[in-house]
Amino acid sequence: MTFPFVMPGVCHVGPKALEHLGEELRRLRARKVLLVCDPGIAQAGLAERVEKALKAEGLDYEVFDQVELEPSTENVEKAAEIVRSSGCDVLIGLGGGSSLDVAKGAAVLATAGGSIRDYMGIELVPGPGLPTVLIPTTAGTGAEVTLNAIYTLKDERVKKGVVSRYLRAAVAIVDPELTLTCPPKVTAATGMDALVHAIESYTAVRATMHTDMYALKAVRLIGRALRRAVFAGHDLEARTAMAWGSFLAGVSLANAGVGAVHALAYPLGGRFHVSHGVANALLLPYVLEFNALADLDKFADMAAALGEPVSARAPREAALQVVKAVRELSGDLGLPQRLREVGVAPEDLDLLTDGAVLQTRLLTNNPRTLTREEIREIYARAL
Ligand SMILES: NC(=O)c1ccc[n+]([C@@H]2O[C@H](COP(=O)([O-])OP(=O)(O)OC[C@H]3O[C@@H](n4cnc5c(N)ncnc54)[C@H](O)[C@@H]3O)[C@@H](O)[C@H]2O)c1
Ligand SMILES: [Fe+2]
Repeated sequence: MTFPFVMPGVCHVGPKALEHLGEELRRLRARKVLLVCDPGIAQAGLAERVEKALKAEGLDYEVFDQVELEPSTENVEKAAEIVRSSGCDVLIGLGGGSSLDVAKGAAVLATAGGSIRDYMGIELVPGPGLPTVLIPTTAGTGAEVTLNAIYTLKDERVKKGVVSRYLRAAVAIVDPELTLTCPPKVTAATGMDALVHAIESYTAVRATMHTDMYALKAVRLIGRALRRAVFAGHDLEARTAMAWGSFLAGVSLANAGVGAVHALAYPLGGRFHVSHGVANALLLPYVLEFNALADLDKFADMAAALGEPVSARAPREAALQVVKAVRELSGDLGLPQRLREVGVAPEDLDLLTDGAVLQTRLLTNNPRTLTREEIREIYARAL
């Protein structure tokens, strides 16, 4: 069996990558651009930096700076309406996953019409949307490279995704200088999310030699840099390592997918309003303890990448060092370690399990098969 490999059309990664925005817009033959971001990004002065580049290029543009956190379907539809009424032909998404997802969805809606709900699911988007330039300011969700976009359905109080090749960015610009203003809490949560992308895609059923290169390098970079990026946010070297790490993890995730950590984390977001990165970080050691036995070699690779001394250890012991390393890391970052810290009570375990078992696409990509009872047991251990 083989798996396809996809990437954004062009990627610029590293300090000053933003300087390539103008030339990329010229190549896209942009006539009018819509800049999509949230109020926090505008306040941090990041929208202004992009506007400066647009002005230097003499480009006509409009700004939609009303992206919601964990955006709703209404929010992406509003952005699409502005694209249509303003006649913009290229979209720039600037921000964390929320802003990038709104830009991705609005670009598709601008040509496909209808409601974003029509396209929720796998490959339901009928054709290409407008070209997008995605510029992350967190490190990160990897949304600049993934083929999905996630929205909150307010009426059902759940989040659902659009998964489509047509969500692929024309250009990804990953400039660590834009993450220097990212607050410590957001840096910690999004950084752990990126680490989970690297770890889960490295051990995924759909992992290939191609994605493995990206994933393992990402584990190494993020493992070394995340503490510094959180506690010394001005450190451009750490921010650069995180930008590369989250980008490489995003490439691996976009192709190999993720597994049980994400599957078990989703119900925590939906029911207990725990942010995506925090929920993943919390469940990570418990799921890894369960998964390690399914692939001792790959777990030992990751332990070494995380700086654990593994050469003198037996394979099983080496593999379990990953659990220790990630537990120490998320503890150092001050993230919650137990479900009860985020408001989960023993009587909620069945509800969480009911939510997790629905994530079949993720569960079947996990290196070790999970039964319903085993999922419940993992939640119970994490309680
Ligand atoms: N499409 C995908 O592949 C994908 C993958 C994972 C998660 N997501 C989605 O992404 C969203 C979460 O994204 P996120 O965690 O990146 O955060 P976010 O976009 O929700 O932003 C969080 C907060 O951080 C602020 N912020 C971000 N960067 C900043 C910076 N450099 N300086 C100052 N403030 C900054 C924002 O203004 C916002 O207030 C969720 O909706 C999640 O479902 C999407
Ligand atoms: Fe994630």
